[in-house]
Amino acid sequence: MTATAAKPKPVPTSFPKERIKILLLEGVHKRGEDILRAEGFHVETHAKALEGDALLRAVADAHVLGIRSKTTVTREVLAAAPRLLTIGCFCIGTNQVDTREACGRGVPVFNSPFSNTRSVAELTVAEVIALHRGLVDKSVGLHRGDWDKSASGAHEIRGRTIGIVGYGHIGSQVSVLAEAMGMRVLFHDVTPKLALGNARQVRSLGELLAESDVVTLHVPATKQTENLIGRAQIAQMRPGAFLINNARGSVVDLDALADSLRAGRVAGAALDVFPVEPAGKGDIFASPVQGMKNVILTPHIGGSTEEAQESIAVDVVGKLARFVNNGSTTGAVNVPEVDLPEQVRSDGEIEHRTHRILHFHRNVPGVLGHINAITAELGVNVNAQYLRTNEQIGYVVLDVDPSDAPSLDDRLRTVPDTVRVRALW
Ligand code: NAI
Repeated sequence: MTATAAKPKPVPTSFPKERIKILLLEGVHKRGEDILRAEGFHVETHAKALEGDALLRAVADAHVLGIRSKTTVTREVLAAAPRLLTIGCFCIGTNQVDTREACGRGVPVFNSPFSNTRSVAELTVAEVIALHRGLVDKSVGLHRGDWDKSASGAHEIRGRTIGIVGYGHIGSQVSVLAEAMGMRVLFHDVTPKLALGNARQVRSLGELLAESDVVTLHVPATKQTENLIGRAQIAQMRPGAFLINNARGSVVDLDALADSLRAGRVAGAALDVFPVEPAGKGDIFASPVQGMKNVILTPHIGGSTEEAQESIAVDVVGKLARFVNNGSTTGAVNVPEVDLPEQVRSDGEIEHRTHRILHFHRNVPGVLGHINAITAELGVNVNAQYLRTNEQIGYVVLDVDPSDAPSLDDRLRTVPDTVRVRALW
């Protein structure tokens, strides 16, 4: 007969979760809030962005700050938040945060670069069909009362060739969807990529442009991709081909595109991104391609779906909770990434929770030596040690026996160039 295993006692934690204040601004998707509350954190939410004194007051006792793109986290805001452990940007970019200053304070910043990949890919596929059928123009015409049943210029996409420029997260999803609809898929990327399905990587952008019925762009905005599609490249496209840009506005020379559309060489285009985009609702949008019936214009909504917002919330909340709970910085944009295991050590059949000390320090010579000298002097039994650095800071994590943790925690706080120490038990 086997003895019934004793129910494990709840592990006392170094800092109770209900005292960890998580401040979520700008109407972060409710799913994120729900997950954090279910974990036992104290969550406060604001529907709008905060600024000025209101923001400084709100962050004064926050341990975690969650924002979208409209809250600016400056050096001053960070200085006003002495307890801040981490920041989550529930969006793609992190320009709104002084990430360098946050790094210097040992505050990891997380974002969600790929949660809206599918949304952009689906919009692209919709546009491939819409362009081939003149859908938007037909709809606008009928709203005006024009009944135009003509098949002229309308095509099935089955059997036609799509050329994908940039075969990363979005480009490869477009590839799968386009092939499922019967298209021949070519792609061009600066790095060799595993072709999905029957897709084929071509040797050059020129080759892709010459062979594609529709060219779709999915490259990042870099110096190398600025005007990647200019007058010369447009001239290399097949007469009657379509162009889709759902990547970044800097990638296409719009004056050159407008000339080609007017000349009837490029048959149509779909554009979601522009070199200059209005800051918000009510600001005027102007572009050389406005007013052309074969051009679909959308206001940078490629990734804007409710599913993407929810998946951003789940992704960022997961990264924040993991850092708070176990110190992992995987996915952080500004501090060294350390992917940590659970704090468990097995001695035969018995599992112990190890105590973990997280130590951020300025990346100068000698800090690790100092830490190791202290563990040796105290006779600490180190179960595991992790270290990663970037040019600004170093991040050392020590898993130690519970009996050793308090004295080690105290001493590590005295190490010169220490930025922040946190203990998890
Ligand atoms: P990713 O980083 O996964 O993929 C980009 C790919 O482009 C990589 O495979 C890279 O090797 C390749 N690449 C870089 N330079 C190139 C060049 N000169 N020529 C050919 N290939 C090149 O990026 P992801 O997530 O697929 O995003 C692609 C673009 O979509 C980005 O510009 C991003 O900002 C944009 N985007 C737009 C959204 C919208 O709302 N319209 C939403 C999300 C992303």
